[in-house]
Amino acid sequence: MSALISPSILSADFTNLERDLGKIATADWAHVDVMDNHFVPNLTIGLPVVERIRQVSPIPIDVHLMIEDPDRWAPGFAEVGAQSVTFHAEAAAAPVRLARELRRLGARAGMAIKPATPIEPFIDLLPELDMLLIMTVEPGFGGQSFIEGTLPKIERTRKAISEANLDVWLQVDGGVSRSTIDMAAEAGANVFVAGSAVYGASDIPAEIAALREMAQKHTH
Ligand code: DX5
Ligand code: ZN
Repeated sequence: MSALISPSILSADFTNLERDLGKIATADWAHVDVMDNHFVPNLTIGLPVVERIRQVSPIPIDVHLMIEDPDRWAPGFAEVGAQSVTFHAEAAAAPVRLARELRRLGARAGMAIKPATPIEPFIDLLPELDMLLIMTVEPGFGGQSFIEGTLPKIERTRKAISEANLDVWLQVDGGVSRSTIDMAAEAGANVFVAGSAVYGASDIPAEIAALREMAQKHTH
């Protein structure tokens, strides 16, 4: 399995998004955090800005929706061409219907769970998904520290994916850096979101390469 790096533009300069997307052109995905001030206590960008990001991004975009009522709003992000759209399980009324709708619109369908949300109720839904995102911080802000207590859940999720012979990507988001990426990869993650670690680096392409290499070394 190859390790994929998805830098979060939450740590980019929001007045220079095109320039800052260019800085992560060697990454696999660009992670775009959409927050609505209701599901999380922070507000970022909405559909019109994401649509422009999609048009100018040198790499595919991975939209992480931290919003209420994704059943209503998530399909719009697939409609503007986002290559991957992830909604939160805690907010979705009909996750299977929504995942199917995202796939029908041509996007990869992702579902996210917060640190305290167990994976077990969702194990049987895994075939409906292209990616499961396990939050490794409480969603809402960049720059927080990685919650190691999520590692057993990452392990159990990877085991469930392998046992069912599925090709579901397992993403981690929050506090991922050179000091934590090995643990996350070891536990079974294969897609790594990193905001402050990437945009805070003096040499961004070198940081992306270093993270990818470390992750790859610890990926099974
Ligand atoms: C947090 C966001 C993350 C955030 C990660 O709620 O979902 O994508 O940008 O930032 P770092 O890597 O700084 O923890
Ligand atoms: Zn995110």
